[in-house]
Amino acid sequence: MRSKFTPALSRRGFLVGSAAAGAALSLHPARADSLDAFTLRAAPGRARLVPEPWGASDVWCYGGAVPGPEIRVRQGARLRIEVENALAEETTVHWHGLRVPNGMDGVPHLTQAPIAPGEAFAYAFDAVDAGTFWYHPHQRSFEQVGRGLYGALIVEEETPPRADRELAWVLDDWRLTQDAAIAADFGGFHDMSHAGRLGNTVTINGRIPDAVPVRTGERIRLRLINAANARIFALDFGDLAPQVIALDGQPVTPHATPGGRVVLGPAMRADLMLDVTVGPGETISVIDRFFAQDPYALVDLAVAETPLRDAPPDWSMALAPNPLSEPDLARARRHEVTFTGGMMGGMVERQMGLSGGSGIGGMMGGGMMNRMHDGGIWFVNGVAAEGHILDPMLTLARDASHVIAMTNATAFHHPIHLHGHSFRVISRNGTPTPHREWQDTVLMAPRERVEIAFVADNPGDWMFHCHILEHQASGMMGVIRVA
Ligand code: C2O
Ligand code: CU
Repeated sequence: MRSKFTPALSRRGFLVGSAAAGAALSLHPARADSLDAFTLRAAPGRARLVPEPWGASDVWCYGGAVPGPEIRVRQGARLRIEVENALAEETTVHWHGLRVPNGMDGVPHLTQAPIAPGEAFAYAFDAVDAGTFWYHPHQRSFEQVGRGLYGALIVEEETPPRADRELAWVLDDWRLTQDAAIAADFGGFHDMSHAGRLGNTVTINGRIPDAVPVRTGERIRLRLINAANARIFALDFGDLAPQVIALDGQPVTPHATPGGRVVLGPAMRADLMLDVTVGPGETISVIDRFFAQDPYALVDLAVAETPLRDAPPDWSMALAPNPLSEPDLARARRHEVTFTGGMMGGMVERQMGLSGGSGIGGMMGGGMMNRMHDGGIWFVNGVAAEGHILDPMLTLARDASHVIAMTNATAFHHPIHLHGHSFRVISRNGTPTPHREWQDTVLMAPRERVEIAFVADNPGDWMFHCHILEHQASGMMGVIRVA
């Protein structure tokens, strides 16, 4: 059974028709002409997120669809993307994970004036890195993204690794009412102070998915993008053993994951090579086990009766590296960042030997109330951000190597995102990571310490924030200046 989040909904049964199997899984390219020019119009729209007998839902979206049009270019291309704002409020577009010049980064007030209703803004930048990226608003993201404003942005390698087929799955999690309307309770205090806005309906490319037809022996390149406000996925592919070939768009040594699970926090991406190693006629359920108490089948892979080949191909999976500067760890300057706050935070801070007390429920009396009055629930180095106009929390010497040692002194997971750069994740709780993966968003478990390293080679003021959008909106955000 899928979509078991809302028992009431699943009792009525999202019964899956087979006629359109797979149809919802292909994205429509937005390419306007050969010059890599695109237009994205952000507007209210309607989208069929859930099958009959429910109707379409009111959404906000790009190009009239959820997800918005897939933007796909070759590495090295110059993109020009005209964004038209047909919403009733200001917006911007951020090109998540792309290393763009600061003025093109789409952060309201910090890197550009917000795009007013009825106005447009032309973004232009080069696709420096190949990989799987995405785009979304950075203005009131917790509601704009939550209502459906997002899309995939794929930069193709010059020589992609061989696969029989490529699929892109943009994952989202919606909080729907019994009428399949998006619940309007954005920005509620409980969501802000706990794990964010978790929904009750998980979609792939804007639909509760039908079974995906696959064939024995087939190799599929699967691009996963987590566009949810808050849901973390831990996808279990059952008898299949996907190889991870890229994380957050950046190549990584192809490897199987611990327990075969692919874990993706909000905003994170993974490129997988999926060999269909099971026999004809079988069905593989892809199960999300992040919440161990509440696993559910995200989608089924239905293996056709006719095999494509007897055994998986032995084609190389490795991707060519992107042009990233290698940090020099011996000379890197070190910086400390501590995240605090949220429900139960004070308790965790005390247990971790931090002076403690910013967490809601972990403080008594006046201190908590003062901070709450300021609107902050989450803190980065003791400061809860309000809006995007911020004094830099760190200033990094340009072109130097930097290590940021981050401590999650909270009771919740946080996917921490830095704009304008990719960084290597070099250690977790003092243990070197096996793959020293490049990421732009790193998922930190409660109480975890993570070190990241990078060369600050992109000048400007860059957002640094939790990508659980309710956490970002309630303080878990800062600015890192590269100068
Ligand atoms: Cu994907 Cu600052 O965001
Ligand atoms: Cu967070």
